[in-house]
Amino acid sequence: MDGASRDAIGDAAPVPTLNAPRAPRLVLGVCGSTAAFKAAALASKLTAAGVEVRCVLTDAGAQFITPLTLTAVTGQPVERDFWSQEATGEIHVELANWADQMLVYPASQHTLAKLASGLCDNLLTGCLSVFSGPRWLAPAMHETMWSQPSTARNVALLVEDGWRLLGPDHGRLADGSEGRGRLVDVNPTAELMLHALRNPQQDLAGTHVIVTAGPTIEPIDPVRVLANRSSGRTGYALASAARARGARVTLITGPTRLEAPFGVEVEPVESAQSMQEALERAYETADVLIMAAAVADFRAKHGATRKLKREATLSLELTGNPDLLAGLALADERSGRRPLRVGFALEDEDLLARARAKMARKRLDIIVANTPESLDGDLTCTHILSADSACARGPESKADFAHALLDLVCAQLAERA
Ligand code: CTP
Repeated sequence: MDGASRDAIGDAAPVPTLNAPRAPRLVLGVCGSTAAFKAAALASKLTAAGVEVRCVLTDAGAQFITPLTLTAVTGQPVERDFWSQEATGEIHVELANWADQMLVYPASQHTLAKLASGLCDNLLTGCLSVFSGPRWLAPAMHETMWSQPSTARNVALLVEDGWRLLGPDHGRLADGSEGRGRLVDVNPTAELMLHALRNPQQDLAGTHVIVTAGPTIEPIDPVRVLANRSSGRTGYALASAARARGARVTLITGPTRLEAPFGVEVEPVESAQSMQEALERAYETADVLIMAAAVADFRAKHGATRKLKREATLSLELTGNPDLLAGLALADERSGRRPLRVGFALEDEDLLARARAKMARKRLDIIVANTPESLDGDLTCTHILSADSACARGPESKADFAHALLDLVCAQLAERA
């Protein structure tokens, strides 16, 4: 697992930065909740990644975090009051015209109730009411508050009205109890928002996307494995981007050090065989399969059940693993189903010709050709090939690559519809 060590240990995937012509703009609403302190970490992360963040703090929010903290991390004054802009009294309209998206993090039970019934009695609800772009809510409250029938009704109404809900998570709550109501974590929220700011479309809504990621590892004995240098970052970026674009995402992942992307169903696996089993289960409902995993081509023919003792030499007999993509293509031919299939071709020479041959052999709609250098770096260089197109890309961030690939996926899905 040497290759994975270049990723931040026990940390989130590094938050991708944005290269848009102008900085994307986010209004970050902060309500009264013990979790309000996390808004400062989120605002700081987004600002560092190139987003302009303007915070709107409610009176209750200001009981938990000071405006000074939010100003310090964003470099922007914090808005508190409907009436602060004497010239116009229209600060809510000005903020709505300025913003690309709005996120309330954390959103309290009270604010959810107000928004569900269209009440507008402070600057935050005013901004949100006058804004017509994407609006995200990340609730945080005690589990008993979250499980109130009134909260459930309000949340159902908000979702029906097109608000985008983030969480809440299950976990440790402010009073030390365990339950649902915990604010979604900073890192996955930052990553999701960066993807959403890059591409605000929900053009994958209603589709089920499977992404495989990372290496597979094959046991040699109970303590040793055959592994490869895949970090999983390309697959995780694709899963996060697809989720931000509205897809239901299943991420089947070999061992990595990356934090699970927000809102994605994660299926951890180890060997090629366990990846195959997870794939076959998920594939039945899939519209799109993106096979970014570096599946081990070989496994030990006779895995030892006891730890091998040190010898001067050791011969290991390997046997081939099945080709998972090719197997699914065969199954599709038999059943007549036709999910869109995307594969990768990792080649150290004759890149394009070999990738095209692989695309034909594995019956793929799209293939991404790349070289071993892209396995573990921050930036990636690729060729995205389909039957009638070829596009050379990079160097670029894995997040930018993910959206470019998903653009082509969406275009092909639209052609089929
Ligand atoms: N793949 C797969 N099953 C395998 C090996 C690879 O489904 N046992 C998938 C990978 O996830 C990738 C594509 O097939 O999407 C191509 O992988 P790559 O390693 O480039 O090619 P291989 O098929 O393994 O062929 P070779 O190593 O000989 O180039």
